[in-house]
Amino acid sequence: MTRRRAKVAAVGTYVPERVVTNDDLSLNLDTSDEWIGTRTGIRQRRIAADGQAASDLGAEAARRALKAAQAQPGELDMIITASLSPDMLFPATASLISGLIGAGSPAAFDISAACTGFIYALAAGESFIASGRADKVLVVGAEAVSKMIDWSDRATAVLFGDGAGAVLLEPASGEGEGIIGFDLGNDPAGAAELSLPAGGSRLPASQETVSGRQHFLRMNGREVFRFATRIVSESARRVVEGHGLRMEDVDIFIPHQANIRIIDVAARKLGFEPGKVFSNIERYGNTSCASIPLCLDEAERQGRLRKGDLVLMTGFGAGLSWGSCLARW
Ligand code: COA
Repeated sequence: MTRRRAKVAAVGTYVPERVVTNDDLSLNLDTSDEWIGTRTGIRQRRIAADGQAASDLGAEAARRALKAAQAQPGELDMIITASLSPDMLFPATASLISGLIGAGSPAAFDISAACTGFIYALAAGESFIASGRADKVLVVGAEAVSKMIDWSDRATAVLFGDGAGAVLLEPASGEGEGIIGFDLGNDPAGAAELSLPAGGSRLPASQETVSGRQHFLRMNGREVFRFATRIVSESARRVVEGHGLRMEDVDIFIPHQANIRIIDVAARKLGFEPGKVFSNIERYGNTSCASIPLCLDEAERQGRLRKGDLVLMTGFGAGLSWGSCLARW
């Protein structure tokens, strides 16, 4: 029996209104637009308002995806949310989004795979559709990372931004269209390189964890950079060649937006000319699980992602984890 294929039927995105430029950051941090721009490619990012959590951003992206698909919230069989800045440890942010959009009682759960989460969530949703256990799955990457950032740490504060993107997965109907396959992996040896140490069962909240600033994201930037510049091209190549295709067949490459230098290195290793590589990091920074759907939406609006295109998406992040998805749009 052939596997039932899933396709992305619609995309919806939402970013908070507040724009924070590099110059704004340099008012309170020992940094500059010049340093951030040349080292990362980032010029500005969106920052969620006080009281605006990941589920609020995710719900708006979800509503927009459903509107684009002309589907009703009540038709959803399942909501999967990927986030490293969930509203709470539990209940799942997917469950909260379900309530906010009035979806009734679909299955709802979260995926924790840091910035690779969107690709893992896409793989989970695709599997539910392939097995026939679900027909309409909403995959939401929703991040209010700004709430997890130590705004006095210039090494991390300049990198991240908030936003959300949602895709509606449905069974594919056209010949050859839809998700072709995935490459997923994780290297636990790098677990300490990128983490939010406290607030879980390892280091429960205490006076010490608060005064030690252990409830904020911590990162060894150089190690993560080294990992990313290796893994993006390896994983991308595995998923393309593993399905009998060539890199030249790819119409558009959408990598996780963490640093323009990581993207450039990967593109060069994979032999992509700049026109095939999509990036909007300049305006949003690293929005973690939201970065790939934010790119999908923009690429489609700009006419750079069209029906029938072969699209390659690659994410990476804490774990250290990685994931690639290959799809015929
Ligand atoms: N503004 C100004 N100077 C800064 C700075 C900032 N925001 N952050 C760090 N610096 C300084 C450092 O203190 C260091 O100074 P020193 O040479 O006097 O010690 C210098 O700049 C170089 O720091 P370094 O860490 O070597 O810079 P880098 O070229 O490696 O760039 C990152 C740093 C974080 C941009 C880069 O390592 C990176 O992008 N890593 C991957 C991060 C990532 O992708 N994380 C998310 C994964 S999902």
